[in-house]
Amino acid sequence: MDKLKITETVLRDGHQSLIATRLRTDEILPILEKMDQVGYYALEVWGGATFDACIRFLDEDPWERLREIKKRVKNTKLQMLLRGQNLLGYRHYGDDIVEKFVEKSITNGIDIIRIFDALNDLRNIKVAAAATKKFGGHCQIAISYTISPVHTTEYYKKLAKDIDEMGADSIAIKDMAGILLPEYGYELIKAIKTVTNLPLELHTHATSGISEMLYQKAIEAGIDIIDTAISTFAGGTSQPATESIVRALKGTERDPGLNLTLLKEIAEYFKPIRKKYIDDGTLNPQALFTEPSILEYQLPGGMLSNLVSQLTAQKAANRYEEVLREIPKVREDLGFPPLVTPLSQMVGTQAVFNVLSGERYKMVPKEIKDFVKGLYGKSPAPMNAEIVHKIIGDEVPYTGRPADLLGPELETLKLEIGTLAKTDEDVLIYAMFPQIGKGYLENREKPKNIIQETKVQHINIVF
Ligand code: CO
Repeated sequence: MDKLKITETVLRDGHQSLIATRLRTDEILPILEKMDQVGYYALEVWGGATFDACIRFLDEDPWERLREIKKRVKNTKLQMLLRGQNLLGYRHYGDDIVEKFVEKSITNGIDIIRIFDALNDLRNIKVAAAATKKFGGHCQIAISYTISPVHTTEYYKKLAKDIDEMGADSIAIKDMAGILLPEYGYELIKAIKTVTNLPLELHTHATSGISEMLYQKAIEAGIDIIDTAISTFAGGTSQPATESIVRALKGTERDPGLNLTLLKEIAEYFKPIRKKYIDDGTLNPQALFTEPSILEYQLPGGMLSNLVSQLTAQKAANRYEEVLREIPKVREDLGFPPLVTPLSQMVGTQAVFNVLSGERYKMVPKEIKDFVKGLYGKSPAPMNAEIVHKIIGDEVPYTGRPADLLGPELETLKLEIGTLAKTDEDVLIYAMFPQIGKGYLENREKPKNIIQETKVQHINIVF
């Protein structure tokens, strides 16, 4: 078997999972030349949350960050995470925006685009995938991993085959909740490898305490690439630690061969930065604790903490167990969607409504209505017809590709934002996050001291 390849996540998922994506560009840049010498397969550096945090909290241009990273990383591929037709935002975009966003990501420095859809509806991925190929990027399509009666090995095999036929360059298994069990992971990887020869990558989170066991079995099954984070920002809700995995594999046939001296120096570099975020409360120790209960409930860790705060705000913390029991029922009613953004929030909110209002589906948020109407794509299994009728009455759900309902948007958005946008990249900042994106572009025009004041206001909102 070939040597194992490693994708380092500290600059995207690592700090997203542990410190709410708050690493600043000036904390990232000084270590990049060293990271570039380690022998990593790729550095994951960009995604929805990094883009959002740059403009919402850090007053930084996310495109500028990407360009500055690219200047310093010459040997290692740069990777980003893209939410299919949602791109980095929270709605479906017109195809022209998807194409432009992918083009600009690649011309500003991204090599590998990992594209996923919360429902594994490949119609929501195909335009972004085609654009990635068109502009010379590596198109990796990710399978959102979840557990349900319809998410069988056969289901995943068919999905992997369809992804291969779409022209992807590689496939990722995205275990966003950290619930893929080691033995089943082995079986799944072996099964997928019977239907495709594409390189296979595994992404998991250490939250439940089984991630290293999973990686061991995945390595035995022949996984090509795994995602890890440098130890300083590893463990808990982040990925397993890079150096630990590399040391454990030293001298074996899958030895990734990374430079351990440099890895140690990189880990040391991030220590004072981590200390700063522990001291100011950004790194909550809770994020580092092992949470085996997510294996029991099969819910992402973030969803559990969201539920607690949602219920506490409603003075209903005592209904927590009831809501936990309601979530799988809602999921079944809605055709077993994987619990990943935005479905995790939507299903969680519906379960809270069902419990607190005393009647199931008496109150239904707009997002759930849209989902039932087919506007997010196809649910993995048919929905409960009775519940569908209760939610949307006699309306017939849409079965086409959701973005076919949208026309071109780029020119309209350009007109709306006007001279505040100097480049297409600026227009895309506005497109992704209309309010805060516009606010960011306006702030940029103001003299420096006013920007400083605004920054302070941002921080007040955060804490
Ligand atoms: Co992740």
